[in-house]
Amino acid sequence: MGPTITPIDATLGAVATGLELARMDAATWKAVEQAFHEHAVLVFPGQDLTDDEQVAFASRFGDIELLAPDPELKAVAISNRKPDGSVMGAEEHRFKALRGNEGWHTDSSYMPLSAKASVLSAQVVPSAGGETEWADMRAAYDALDEGTRKRISGLSAHHSLYHSQARIGHEVETGAGYGYHTKGAPLRPLVKVHPVTGRPALYIGRHAYGIPGLDEPESEKLLSDLVDFACRPPRTYAHRWQPGDVVIWDNRCVLHRARPYNYSEVRVMRHTRVAGDPATELAPTDRDERARAYEPSTSNR
Ligand code: OGA
Ligand code: MN
Repeated sequence: MGPTITPIDATLGAVATGLELARMDAATWKAVEQAFHEHAVLVFPGQDLTDDEQVAFASRFGDIELLAPDPELKAVAISNRKPDGSVMGAEEHRFKALRGNEGWHTDSSYMPLSAKASVLSAQVVPSAGGETEWADMRAAYDALDEGTRKRISGLSAHHSLYHSQARIGHEVETGAGYGYHTKGAPLRPLVKVHPVTGRPALYIGRHAYGIPGLDEPESEKLLSDLVDFACRPPRTYAHRWQPGDVVIWDNRCVLHRARPYNYSEVRVMRHTRVAGDPATELAPTDRDERARAYEPSTSNR
């Protein structure tokens, strides 16, 4: 008998039971991959994967994107717990980076190659809050009025982690701790066509800013209006974690965010990121960017 895939009461997401991620036969894997494309977020309760099993599961979807200089480190802790067991203070760099995850975003949109998918598992969960929430950018695009669709059809935005962190008061020097990310800010279309399903989706979130052709206030307003519109029921699902749960999501068509909790409690998640396919997730070239910058309507460059 195959796994049971139960859609969540939202436009995205399904819960998959009746399978062990660490021991899937070909038919089970096929069902999981199909469900991933259909639902964009899959919840696997109670899997209790080891680091290696999580990396092996993620690797079925593609190459692993390294988030730290150590090539062996393919499963990284998303955690407020320090090596000595105490929790991070509010002023610490790594804590501020963690809090950044509370804004709607998609992973690695600020890198030259954006991410395909992310796998997150819960290790230690706080007594309340600390959910992860996802929003369906395919359904959001479908729900846009015709005028907005037309307006955004030719538009792109820059993406930068330095920019999004500065916006929440966290100023970081180049090279001071965002892994491989430099201060470059790739330009990406606001609408992304999914390479497998062909469905268009909004490609936005906290890292996006500076739409060429719009002045800065206009650009900010458009981007924040789009996020406000997109990230609402029935397009959202928030998962209340139990230790051992695993979730995978499709960064090409969903946004996600962490929800707050009492930061004096420990929260430890484990993250593995699947690299995008260069054929479809590589940012358009500098050449395109220069061409756009010289369009007559451009006023912010
Ligand atoms: C991430 C992320 C959210 C969370 O791992 O990329 O944004 O709930 N995590 O920890
Ligand atoms: Mn993230």
